[in-house]
Amino acid sequence: MKNFRFALRIGSHSKGVASIRGYSRTSRFDANVHFKSPAAIRNPLIYQGKDCDNCFIDEIKSGDHMGRQQNHIWTKDELEIALTTLYRHEPKTFADKCLNKLMYGLYHSFNFITGYKDVNPDVSAIEWRLIVLESVAGVPGFLAAGFRHFKSLRTLNRDHGWIATLLEEAENERMHLLICLVMAKKSKLTRFLVLGAQITMTPILMMMYLSNPKFLHRFVGYLEETACHTYVSVIKNIETPGTKLHKAWSLTPAPPIALGYYRLPEDAKWVDVLKCMMADESHHRDVNHTFADMKTDDPNPFLEMHKNDAIIAWRLENKGETAWPKEKN
Ligand SMILES: [Fe+2]
Ligand SMILES: [Fe+2]
Repeated sequence: MKNFRFALRIGSHSKGVASIRGYSRTSRFDANVHFKSPAAIRNPLIYQGKDCDNCFIDEIKSGDHMGRQQNHIWTKDELEIALTTLYRHEPKTFADKCLNKLMYGLYHSFNFITGYKDVNPDVSAIEWRLIVLESVAGVPGFLAAGFRHFKSLRTLNRDHGWIATLLEEAENERMHLLICLVMAKKSKLTRFLVLGAQITMTPILMMMYLSNPKFLHRFVGYLEETACHTYVSVIKNIETPGTKLHKAWSLTPAPPIALGYYRLPEDAKWVDVLKCMMADESHHRDVNHTFADMKTDDPNPFLEMHKNDAIIAWRLENKGETAWPKEKN
């Protein structure tokens, strides 16, 4: 994989550096372990070959499903990095250019039709926008996981660990939706738009995946870029005195469902939850652009991350701590 260096964050809850296609940025991965190196997760196909010198250990690792649905618990430092690092993938191939145009065409059309604006938007406009977008965002991960699940059953072959990450993404998006539903009104128009979006987008996303799985992942990567932009814009408005969002949401406490999901302290605000959701979107963006660059039988480089996320969540739970420890005076 040319110019592609990926890194796994193993055993630490700290930030690192990743480099994707020549684009260097700080993220929660370390950049010094290529996922195809012997030190990282090995391609399951190797297990069937003769060059298998440590299969037993790797078989145990691949069979360990601990924590594969655990969301990442964001530290304040990680949130700051995610909020200030708005990566945008530069399309190089013809297919990527078409998908980029399609996604940003849909995005700008949606903004135009719905009258969306970045500067001082109405609260109700943001409420239903988040609900509609999150209801769509939960579709592609589940679709791709389903296709890979059936393929694994049908062909009697391994999935190479992708299903776990795709399902975690779908669950994460559904949690975003549930969190937004606590904070927003569900009007009849919103319900109608959610239904319309699912009816129209699901077949399109399915056809995209069936044409080539990379197309769907690249498309979702671009979709997540726009989601990051939307969340950053909403957060900036909330933190800007004088705006409608600041008046409505700057002092709003985080809903309990979000406190539990992100392990936030009890005094966390709604805007803190939005920051966690933005960081999730930035992770989905990176995952999907990464998957779009990989062969479909490459081992999933994110598996260790799920386990580490579970360990961190379990430690916090055991110690009765939150993701953001109180600062010492
Ligand atoms: Fe989301
Ligand atoms: Fe997302």
